[in-house]
Amino acid sequence: MIPYGRQSVDEDDVRAVVEVLRGAWLTTGPNVELFERSVAAAAGARHAIAVSNGTAALHCIMHALGVGSGDEVIGPAITFVATANAAVFEGATPIFADVDADTLTIDPRSVEARITPRTKAIVGVDYAGHPCDWDALRAVASKHGLPLIADGCHALGASSKGAPVGAIAAMTAFSFHPVKHVTTGEGGAVVTDDDALAQKLRLFRAHGIATDHRTRELKGTFLYEMIGLGYNYRICDIQCALGASQMKKLEGWVERRRAIAARYRSTLPAIAGLEVLRDRDDSKNAYHLFVVKVPAGIDRAAVHRRLRELGIAANVHYMPVHLHPFYRERFGTGEGLCPTAEREWERILSIPMYPAMTDGDVDAVVAALKTAIG
Ligand SMILES: Cc1ncc(COP(=O)(O)O)c(C=O)c1O
Repeated sequence: MIPYGRQSVDEDDVRAVVEVLRGAWLTTGPNVELFERSVAAAAGARHAIAVSNGTAALHCIMHALGVGSGDEVIGPAITFVATANAAVFEGATPIFADVDADTLTIDPRSVEARITPRTKAIVGVDYAGHPCDWDALRAVASKHGLPLIADGCHALGASSKGAPVGAIAAMTAFSFHPVKHVTTGEGGAVVTDDDALAQKLRLFRAHGIATDHRTRELKGTFLYEMIGLGYNYRICDIQCALGASQMKKLEGWVERRRAIAARYRSTLPAIAGLEVLRDRDDSKNAYHLFVVKVPAGIDRAAVHRRLRELGIAANVHYMPVHLHPFYRERFGTGEGLCPTAEREWERILSIPMYPAMTDGDVDAVVAALKTAIG
């Protein structure tokens, strides 16, 4: 079965992890810092705060912004649920903006139409690895004096007008789940240029306690103070050794993803009615996913099923968040809120995309898709 996404782990990665297992620090140790430095450099930011997963990264961001009860946070309807959930964790109301039909990234006009006096922040998601229209979003955010946040969980290695994704918003979240560009098993990070926000993020990651165990040990002190309320969102040294080793391969893997995308783009037009998402000229897509739209009138579920029979595990990213039972029940959302997202999601299918795919795999996916669509 060719999966829709898969990690690549080599012997260097294995060695890096084993070395940590033989050493003194399993939880926060030198590899956490090493990994943070490489993520910050790749993302174009001064600080990276590594955490236990991308969801925790988004939660840290909401907390650092001071999002709370009575606030509204605007994000796209098409994303993983965690983008919206992070605002809910802090007692705020997520507001769903519609998406652009060609890229499925948040539509800045829809964002502006949803701004109220309660709006606290705008969150753009670089869906599938394609940067949002950040210039237009920044214009809306500046006009209304709102912070701009990026959920870059799909987009490590992507850039917009030459700026890496982590260098655009006030804070950017990344995920290191195995299907992402690099993996730590589970893991995430927030990047920012802002020293004060970085400090808040570090505190929230570790119980609101200012010094970690290792720092105290190195300084020979047992004293610590809790200066705010925080979670245990730490990532461990074992994971970060894997992450730091994986980061060395990021650039090559993103290039391979782009080559796979180019092959899809040159061969998929042979399937009548099938559409691919558009890449804007000013952006460099990191291709976490490769999303196609099945021809209008074709049953997507049947295509998905036939692909499985042919050995291709496609997937769907995502059902609009406002259509999930939790959001309908808690926030009264439902059909009609984001018409473009609701229309387009019925047609989308994520076909295999990961660096270890061979050109032969890509051609096999295209052939299977042709058969499945019929
Ligand atoms: C857009 C988006 N945001 C947030 C997350 C959450 O990341 P994690 O699974 O690491 O918690 C994901 C994960 O798939 C995602 O795709």
